[in-house]
Amino acid sequence: MNKSTYRSLSVIKVVKKRFQSSFSQIVLNRVTLSFSQGLCYAIAGLSGAGKTTLLHLLAGLEPPDSGVICIDKKNIWQLSSVDRSRFLNQTIGLMFQSPFLIHELSIGENVMLPGLIAGKSRTDCKQWSMALLKMVGLQNRCNSRPSELSGGQQQRVTLARALFNKPSFLLADEPTGNLDDQTGKGIIQLLLTCKNQWGMGVIVSSHDQELVKKMDQIYEIKHGVAQEKTMQITGSKPKLPQEQRML
Ligand SMILES: Nc1ncnc2c1ncn2[C@@H]1O[C@H](COP(=O)(O)OP(=O)(O)OP(=O)(O)O)[C@@H](O)[C@H]1O
Ligand SMILES: [Mg+2]
Repeated sequence: MNKSTYRSLSVIKVVKKRFQSSFSQIVLNRVTLSFSQGLCYAIAGLSGAGKTTLLHLLAGLEPPDSGVICIDKKNIWQLSSVDRSRFLNQTIGLMFQSPFLIHELSIGENVMLPGLIAGKSRTDCKQWSMALLKMVGLQNRCNSRPSELSGGQQQRVTLARALFNKPSFLLADEPTGNLDDQTGKGIIQLLLTCKNQWGMGVIVSSHDQELVKKMDQIYEIKHGVAQEKTMQITGSKPKLPQEQRML
């Protein structure tokens, strides 16, 4: 993929409130950020700072209270719900912090769901889901049920599912949070492959310093405001890769 065709994903002056039983909270307060394909970003911040909230807004799971979420120049909340779902299914892959797998389906079927929804053939979907499960180290669990897997294994299944349609942007919420060091390193390598070989934009929320320091750009959310932290950790400005290729 040529970098001139890279998509951008932006939040512009986004406000998101959350309501608990006794109080309401402004989790994101006029946050403006822009993400590009072909780069890796970390979203840092204390527990409860709003990282998952931001990723869910970027994935179009819920609308902001005010502000705009754009892919290129398209405001995703101005699309009809059918168009938005179709567009996001192709453009964004989200690896959830909690797995959200369908327990009636096998692991292989869970992974291929985005492809089936996009109208791809079941045979192709099956082959690709096996390949993705291999990438996350679970090729021998294709026929298992989600309840037969550990929390970390289930999370890796959601990463495979998020990658299924080779989205322009992969959003990964604490992708190494439940993993041992060695498995975590494998996932970090896979995230970097998503950027370097497939030209994806990769946006991770993480407390894992091993992961965060490998990202090109770091944003920290604090008191509802997002600030760039890039220089303090990597010490150099990220460069767009020269040439990217989707599989
Ligand atoms: N569905 C909800 N209803 C009410 N409040 C919510 C809801 N989801 C999140 N919150 C609140 O919004 C704030 C931000 O939550 P969020 O899950 O985005 O934080 P986070 O940075 O991802 O935290 P963690 O690192 O623990 O995953 C928290 O104060 C949380 O209690
Ligand atoms: Mg979270």
